Amino acid sequence: MLNHIFRKAVNQRVSRSGTPCDYFITTPIFYVNSAPHIGHLHTILLADAINIFTKLKLGSQNTLFTSGTDEHGIKIKTAATKSGQRCQHFCDLNSAKFRQLFYEFDITLTDFVRTTEDRHRATVQSVWSELEKNGYIYKSTYSGWYCNTDETFVPESQIVKKTTDSGEVYFDQNDNIVTWSSEENYLFRLSSFTDRVKSWLNHTKPILPEKFNTEAIRIIENSRMEDISVSRPRSRLDWAISVPGDSSQTIYVWLDALSNYLTSAGYPCEADDLRRWPIDCQVIGKDIIKFHALYWPAFLMALSLPLPKRLICHSHWLIDSLKMSKSRGNVVDPFAEKDVLGTSGLRYYLLRSATPHSDTGYSQMQATRLVNAELADNYGNLLSRSCAPAINPDQVIPIGLIEPIDENIIEIKERLQTLSTTCRVHYEEANFYKGVDAIMNTLRLNNKLYEESKPWKLVKLKSRDDNSCRQYLNLQAITFETLRICSILLLPIIPQIANEALMRLNTTEVSWSAACPQLELCKDKMSTRSIRSEFAKVLVTKIK
Ligand code: MSP
Repeated sequence: MLNHIFRKAVNQRVSRSGTPCDYFITTPIFYVNSAPHIGHLHTILLADAINIFTKLKLGSQNTLFTSGTDEHGIKIKTAATKSGQRCQHFCDLNSAKFRQLFYEFDITLTDFVRTTEDRHRATVQSVWSELEKNGYIYKSTYSGWYCNTDETFVPESQIVKKTTDSGEVYFDQNDNIVTWSSEENYLFRLSSFTDRVKSWLNHTKPILPEKFNTEAIRIIENSRMEDISVSRPRSRLDWAISVPGDSSQTIYVWLDALSNYLTSAGYPCEADDLRRWPIDCQVIGKDIIKFHALYWPAFLMALSLPLPKRLICHSHWLIDSLKMSKSRGNVVDPFAEKDVLGTSGLRYYLLRSATPHSDTGYSQMQATRLVNAELADNYGNLLSRSCAPAINPDQVIPIGLIEPIDENIIEIKERLQTLSTTCRVHYEEANFYKGVDAIMNTLRLNNKLYEESKPWKLVKLKSRDDNSCRQYLNLQAITFETLRICSILLLPIIPQIANEALMRLNTTEVSWSAACPQLELCKDKMSTRSIRSEFAKVLVTKIK
């Protein structure tokens, strides 16, 4: 049965509206208890870079890329009450800040789900009804330690008791306060799925970097996937979606939140009518592995829906070695950082410096240095020099190389031949920093050759001396080819700058397969194409 649904769903390419959909990528939905910080921006940028890369690779614009805001639960209600606002109004204000951030960073989202929307409520309630119909929900008394910050019950083994001025207080391993609750709840038969979820993790290794796949398996082994509470009495939590048929209970926020992925796919509907399923790629932070690698696949199995193909897990941004988070109060405001570094500068720094497998310390000074050294002095410098009227008086791009070709030009050409494959391998694993490293090395090599070849002298000699003319044209040809290829490969990282560069270079074919050397070999003469603007301006200016 499952195989049958799986096959049909995999072949699903056309949505109800008839638009083909070739890829489905999601981010977690963001809590609205506060404004966005740099960690949130990083999550969405990572997904955006994967989305742009995939579109280039597939040669398709039709991807489903969804994000949104997580608006129910005790945490949100407490924050709203503290700020003296009604819950819905408070959520409207903070959700709008996330939307604004994504707009300012040109995030290529195709949907934004708010958990307080009617369409989402309909999805969650039908998910609940389906789980109940399939026999996976039952009523029982649930007792345990509840952590409001993470909206989750915490196993007894992870509780730490501390004596404070106000008496004994209990904490989880992340130093969040937990409280004991014993209440009549609905439970989900998570335990029924232990073996299947473990086998999925073991055999398909869906989570990258692999250390987080191992971490997910370790969590199962430690917690034994006991049944979880999926509702709370309304008297304890009223800012949530009602359990269908029992208005005295509300639905657990993580079941509510995880269902957002189904909302954007168009659930409830027949599996064949989902916009696209299964999800191709889910970007998550390492703090929410348990929910996405244990609960989510179990919910999907209980709904007879296929599991996501890939989960990309990233580490955290730190401030003074501590995770940047609202509850710690050590957050960096992305809007303010953008004013200093620019959207492209900030985007470049976050994607260039973060490593998925380990945490990274945030530093505005390092960001400034990196952007100046790599975008302005390396990429921008090569572009502006090769277009400068003094060196390029005719404002043209040679489209071939004249034989004989000097060794150092052949060396760069050979690098360009393998560069897109190197980047593809790294980008596919969301190791953007490694791909950018290879691009920057190639640009540096070309810059070095440019400096050593003294084009400002060659350009003066070229009308008198054939050899100088050949050297000049070959240098310009390889340099523009480097710039064209590197700009395509940089599109997922700095789309705005790379696009502008490609436009100035009069590039017509922008796709992943075009990111390989296309220079013709000429015996003596060489044709050219013109640079788009009269004087290509410097695209990347230094940050002061
Ligand atoms: N609402 C849940 C997710 C529900 S998805 C069905 C949630 N929200 S969150 O706002 O706390 O986090 C959203 C994303 O931001 C997560 O991927 C999380 O890892 C990421 N980040 C939050 N702080 C971060 C850092 N300091 N650094 C990097 N990313 C971090 O969890």
